[in-house]
Amino acid sequence: MFGLLKKKKQLASSAIDYNNLPEHIGIIMDGNGRWAKKRGLPRSAGHSMGARVLEQITRAAGNIGIKYLTVYAFSTENWSRPDDEVKALMKLIGEYLDDYRRIIGDEDMRVRFIGSKNGLTDDIIRKMHVVEEATKDNKSITLNIALNYGGRDEIVNAVRSVAQKVSDGELNVSDISEKLLSEHMYTHYMPDPDFIIRPSGEQRLSNFLLWQSAYSEFWYSNINWPDFTRADLERAIVDYQSRNRRFGGV
Ligand code: IPE
Ligand code: IPE
Ligand code: MG
Repeated sequence: MFGLLKKKKQLASSAIDYNNLPEHIGIIMDGNGRWAKKRGLPRSAGHSMGARVLEQITRAAGNIGIKYLTVYAFSTENWSRPDDEVKALMKLIGEYLDDYRRIIGDEDMRVRFIGSKNGLTDDIIRKMHVVEEATKDNKSITLNIALNYGGRDEIVNAVRSVAQKVSDGELNVSDISEKLLSEHMYTHYMPDPDFIIRPSGEQRLSNFLLWQSAYSEFWYSNINWPDFTRADLERAIVDYQSRNRRFGGV
């Protein structure tokens, strides 16, 4: 009897509350290399599997009712990896972009990119533009792909464009506020992330959404990204829903 009651409670507590969803989830898709190494495969095989998992998790997030999903695909620091790996990653990203119609399928999904264009090939930049244009009227979920993204780089860019406007006389120094800086970030069109998920066991931001994560809730797990499933996403969301977000209040 008590066993049954306990079981019921566990089932009930593992269900997502659809009235309390995080509006914006960020995911640091980490652990591809370790996933591959464990299986005696090249790191690029981990990246390929990671791209497939991205498709599944994007669909799952849309299905659950998440409005914004931002995924960290390539950081401004990832250029420091061996040439072979950077090449393999860029090839994979190009293939992912070519395949966007199949990936999006019937989903009402808008795809946007955040990050710097510096260092990306014209071919990748053109493909990014095609995908953004083709999906611009879709509304249910926005998938933000952080590609060649760095939080510090983003802040420097925002400060530069604000400084330029001050120098041109378009703005006064006294106009500079948190809101104004937010409006100059790559993420100006979305709310701050409520929840940031990082698989692979690392417990750091690695330059992801530094400005925007001031009050984000975090969730870490030892699962490597290529092993991440919809069930893991749901578990993470249920955990998020048990948090008490105070934003400095009481
Ligand atoms: C994340 O997986 C993918 C990118 C950074 C592009 P990693 O390649 O960082 O995998 P690990 O952390 O070495 O296992
Ligand atoms: C963060 O992972 C970047 C992406 C997932 C794209 P890294 O693997 O680059 O981060 P560190 O080096 O472990 O901090
Ligand atoms: Mg890593």
